[in-house]
Amino acid sequence: MYFILLSVLTCLATCHCLIEKDEKNENHCGLLKQWLESTSVSVEIGKKGFHREVITTVELSPGVPTGVRVLLVYRWPSGVYIDPYQLASLRDQSDWQILLDSAIDLEAPAHKTSGFVTFVYPTPDEPTPRLLKVAIPIHGRYHEPSSVGKKYTSVDIQPPELLLRTEKCMQLDNLEPHTVMDAPCTVHNSSMCAWVKIQHQQEYGPVSLQFPVGDGSLVIPVCGGTLLVTMICCVALSKYMWKHQIIK
Ligand SMILES: *[C@@H]1O[C@H](CO)[C@@H](O)[C@H](O)[C@H]1NC(C)=O
Repeated sequence: MYFILLSVLTCLATCHCLIEKDEKNENHCGLLKQWLESTSVSVEIGKKGFHREVITTVELSPGVPTGVRVLLVYRWPSGVYIDPYQLASLRDQSDWQILLDSAIDLEAPAHKTSGFVTFVYPTPDEPTPRLLKVAIPIHGRYHEPSSVGKKYTSVDIQPPELLLRTEKCMQLDNLEPHTVMDAPCTVHNSSMCAWVKIQHQQEYGPVSLQFPVGDGSLVIPVCGGTLLVTMICCVALSKYMWKHQIIK
């Protein structure tokens, strides 16, 4: 009899604990959902010419819950590249960290390469501040000369996706309209984590960059001219050497 009573009591206690735990989790998730409402991401472009800077500003809602991690996922077009050596030299001055999804060919022209993805961790250390700023140096690739005499080509840079993660809310399935996405937990890419991908009410459009392009109709005259000049120089030089008996 005692035994049964004891089991029932134990069971009740466990159930109660479980429910409490669930409620707590739910509570955290509810808070998180509310808190996610007014986050925003915007990008602007700094510097001129082939060497630019993509400056991203993330503004989180006030009262950032402790333990929130932020991740920015950039999908870059083939018209630009990021220089890993430059990033390595910047590492000491900047507090953000970056993970590239593939090796980057620094020399390839835009039409011979494809886009790539980078994962940027703006604040590897706690606590996460409300306002985050990341300036990523990018470079324009050379573009195929234009056959219609265009002097510039435009490359669209999409704003990054904003991803958030917190250990406090593990139940990520009822955070609509936000979705869940798997991405590396840290810049070391040693494990994958589920992140909440923030859907913004008003999406910011892409920013457009203009890069100069060569004129395709000039390719033949320029090559022909170069060849002609080279040949004339060769002939002149040979004649000179012959005349002065430099070659014996
Ligand atoms: C992370 O590691 C996995 C497994 O090693 C690999 O397949 C994936 O491409 C890596 N991701 C990035 C962004 O480097």
